[in-house]
Amino acid sequence: MTVLLEASELFFDYHAHLRRRDPNASWTLRDINVAMPAGSTVGIVGESGSGKSTLVRLLCGLIVQSRGRITFDGRSLTEWLSEDRREFHRRNQIVFQSPASSLDPRLRIKTSLSEPTKALEQRKPEATELRNWLQDVGLSGEVLSRYPHQLSGGQLQRIAVARALSVRPDVLYADEPTSALDVSVQAQVLNLLMGLKHRHGLTLVLVSHDLAVVARVCEQIIVLKDGQVVEAGGTAEVMSDPKTDYTRTLVEASRATSLVRT
Ligand SMILES: Nc1ncnc2c1ncn2[C@@H]1O[C@H](COP(=O)(O)OP(=O)(O)OP(=O)(O)O)[C@@H](O)[C@H]1O
Ligand SMILES: [Mg+2]
Repeated sequence: MTVLLEASELFFDYHAHLRRRDPNASWTLRDINVAMPAGSTVGIVGESGSGKSTLVRLLCGLIVQSRGRITFDGRSLTEWLSEDRREFHRRNQIVFQSPASSLDPRLRIKTSLSEPTKALEQRKPEATELRNWLQDVGLSGEVLSRYPHQLSGGQLQRIAVARALSVRPDVLYADEPTSALDVSVQAQVLNLLMGLKHRHGLTLVLVSHDLAVVARVCEQIIVLKDGQVVEAGGTAEVMSDPKTDYTRTLVEASRATSLVRT
């Protein structure tokens, strides 16, 4: 299996400027090592504040690590960002927790949906392309002329997914894509993501605080706690034989919630 994305010995601190004063201050992320095979579905779980979103931002090149190395498709991220920044961002797309944070309330859906193509491919998408992208996520062209406040949370999240996929990425990062939605819509959006992953051969990185969600759809799981990877491995292995007490607690909690749901 080819490794598409690899991070080794990553350290990151939002307060790096204070580190000189206090070299022992804790890192936001410490000594992170992860490898994602092309076409895999990888889940990142951990409690609020454990560093999940920070890790995703680093892997997508939105922020830069203090130490360590990230490699995407055989080239270091530093090289990508200095030589082929647009191509890197085209191939690595994110969907955020709340569609409100990715869709500008002042813009019609048509304008928001066209943005990645304009910015990363420097062309204006055709009307048929816009409609095809919407169809791919189960929406009709009717929504194109609407503003975000005229749509439901589930519809907005579908648009955010269509927008991310419009530039045909290799990796789709979904950072808590369903936590702002109610339970029935959550399942629809997760199923949609899985369907799209298979149809487009994506590598899907799913971030969630809910191990039950991640275990249902991911082949591999990375567990973060206080900025460190405390467990990483195949889903079946992590769920049946967790190596740390922290993961064991998460596994037990996820079993309890699955029982409630069934
Ligand atoms: N822009 C920022 N500036 C300073 N500190 C930040 C910033 N963003 C996050 N942090 C801090 O970094 C740590 C990790 O935050 P992060 O958002 O990555 O966690 P998370 O696991 O995604 O949490 P959640 O589940 O709540 O989304 C937290 O202590 C947080 O307060
Ligand atoms: Mg987060």
